Amino acid sequence: MIVKVAVNAASGKMGQQVISQVKSNTESDLVAAICRPEHRLLSRKVGYSDLTYTSDIQAGLQVSDVIIDFSLPEVSVNLLNQAVEGKTPVLIGTTGFTSEQTALIKETAKRIPVLLAPNTSIGVNSTLALLAAAAKMLGKQADIEIIEAHHKHKVDAPSGTAIRMGECIAEAMNKNFDDIKVTDSRFETRQRKKGEIGMSVIRAGEIIGEHKVLFALDNEIISIEHKAQNRLCFAEGAVAASIWLAGQSAGFYTMQDFLAG
Ligand SMILES: NC(=O)c1ccc[n+]([C@@H]2O[C@H](COP(=O)([O-])OP(=O)(O)OC[C@H]3O[C@@H](n4cnc5c(N)ncnc54)[C@H](OP(=O)(O)O)[C@@H]3O)[C@@H](O)[C@H]2O)c1
Repeated sequence: MIVKVAVNAASGKMGQQVISQVKSNTESDLVAAICRPEHRLLSRKVGYSDLTYTSDIQAGLQVSDVIIDFSLPEVSVNLLNQAVEGKTPVLIGTTGFTSEQTALIKETAKRIPVLLAPNTSIGVNSTLALLAAAAKMLGKQADIEIIEAHHKHKVDAPSGTAIRMGECIAEAMNKNFDDIKVTDSRFETRQRKKGEIGMSVIRAGEIIGEHKVLFALDNEIISIEHKAQNRLCFAEGAVAASIWLAGQSAGFYTMQDFLAG
């Protein structure tokens, strides 16, 4: 069966990658590419297809089996509210949600299938499993630092992926991530404390996305690293997961559910 996919925020860097991936995946068909009203792309053709960019979200939702959204937190929340009406499944790749917005997304997922993924790459999601294993073995002794680097345009920090990595590590150590995470500025006034997870952020140039986690012992360092070579790795995972999501019942899902399914 071919899954009909709509793409919200189609003008964005990720929106464009997702469009080309939906078109090249043999199990999906692009049925709507949605932009902001008055966007310069509106009414233009999407690549060489007959489809044109639209700002009509409702029309896009009506013709699709699933919608993919990489945008801004408030845009994703608005889309979700509209998707509930027609019961269209939503894959959200946007990052930077507040805890209130995340709670709202989980509440909405009681009515429609929602997959929330701060990182849709298959590689990063495999890395999470490696981090959990390392944390189980080394978490008690090691100083743990998560270092992430992204392009200068990114507006949230630390990245959603870095936070998810921290949560996985903390879960593996039976800790609450919020209780043990600390940011760059801590060393202005004090030394490192045992058991904390440090978060360091780099914003520079056009770096697509790099995450490195150090498990530092006194005489050796274990380092687990993921580097995105281009945005296609996020688009590939997002489209594959959206095809899976279209066949699910209402509920809150993550990339782990997709990979396990
Ligand atoms: N999950 C993952 O694996 C992954 C990977 C990469 C990025 N991300 C996340 O995905 C999100 C987008 O990243 P990006 O690199 O694609 O950013 P981007 O190029 O800046 O794209 C943002 C998109 O959101 C749209 N937008 C902004 N404000 C809007 C509004 N008020 N109403 C409707 N649309 C609006 C923009 O439309 P205009 O063109 O009209 O401004 C654009 O299409 C970020 O949260 C980023 O962290 C996630």
